[in-house]
Amino acid sequence: MSSVLSRVGRPAAPDLPFAERVIAWQRTHGRHALPWQNTRDPYRIWLSEIMLQQTQVATVIPYYERFLARYPDVASLAAAPDADVMALWAGLGYYTRARNLHRCAREIVTQWGGQFPPDAASIATLPGIGRSTAAAIAAFAYGERAAILDGNVRRVFARHFGIEGDPASTRVQQVMWRHADAELPALRAETEAQANAMRAYTQGLMDLGATLCTRGVPDCGRCPVRSTCVALREARQHELPTPRVRKVSPERTTHLLWIEHDGRILLERRPPTGIWGGLVSLPEFDGEDAVAACRRLGIPADAAHPQTPFLHVFTHFRLTATPWRIAAAEPGTLSDPAHTWVPLAELADAGLPAPIRKLLVTSAQGTLL
Ligand code: ADE
Repeated sequence: MSSVLSRVGRPAAPDLPFAERVIAWQRTHGRHALPWQNTRDPYRIWLSEIMLQQTQVATVIPYYERFLARYPDVASLAAAPDADVMALWAGLGYYTRARNLHRCAREIVTQWGGQFPPDAASIATLPGIGRSTAAAIAAFAYGERAAILDGNVRRVFARHFGIEGDPASTRVQQVMWRHADAELPALRAETEAQANAMRAYTQGLMDLGATLCTRGVPDCGRCPVRSTCVALREARQHELPTPRVRKVSPERTTHLLWIEHDGRILLERRPPTGIWGGLVSLPEFDGEDAVAACRRLGIPADAAHPQTPFLHVFTHFRLTATPWRIAAAEPGTLSDPAHTWVPLAELADAGLPAPIRKLLVTSAQGTLL
């Protein structure tokens, strides 16, 4: 027989509390081998939670491992130069996360004596750490009974509790947080059992959202809380959560100087704030006159060749960039310390934003990296 029941075995008892069903399911069906699991080190857990904001597990894993190999603890991260941290983050996107991570590390060293803050409330005072991320860190590291509410969990709650309305609205957020607090596992008598229940529950909510209660076609047949799910009962899985009314993103354009000389390329360290802040990239100019822009950098040039523009979508706008390729006859005299000549062979480690890296890798020559 290939019914749902035979695939999942005995259904979870419907009268168990929501949290108990999530915990039991996590222990048998959840994820247990992710690189940030099976540690209680708040530094490692914190790093994973920051990297996993807005970024898929598969994308995060190699960055996470490289980062930990270079900075195994909060002290080594706090002592690192900004440029090195940004270079290790380059390609992962949402660079404010890296800047805040670095600021947090310094604050932990200066304000907390190098010890990670001991509970969710104090973790939430660190730069760039919101309530849900602080709770996730405290639950995984300390077993604290603190509620999370990230994007995946919002989807699970919207469906299970039948919460309608714009998920970004204050009203819906408040309703969600009330559920998040109310559904926490009941207190257990034994401290370690309590802490482990919190770990399994927190991971279980994340796993449910990532593996069963997915955005596209949710796998309700395997869900441990299906017997009480409003969306399933009313066949409204595809209406909940209520789709966000997306504003049309503004369009911006920019122009980039792609100047090469003698096997090297001219790169510019970007200012610390704004797009790709703190990363190195191709110098930007207004598009008027690429040859003149190149000369303003101190490099003599005769001709510039526009390349195919590329589109990059940021959270709040869409950027169309046109690279202008220039073969410089001589390196000139660079007047701004933000500019440096970088050998083409070193581009892979230069800390370029992903679309710039892709542009250079897939360039017509195809020999750059
Ligand atoms: N997304 C956010 N936190 C996560 C975690 N601990 N495991 C998997 N995905 C996550």
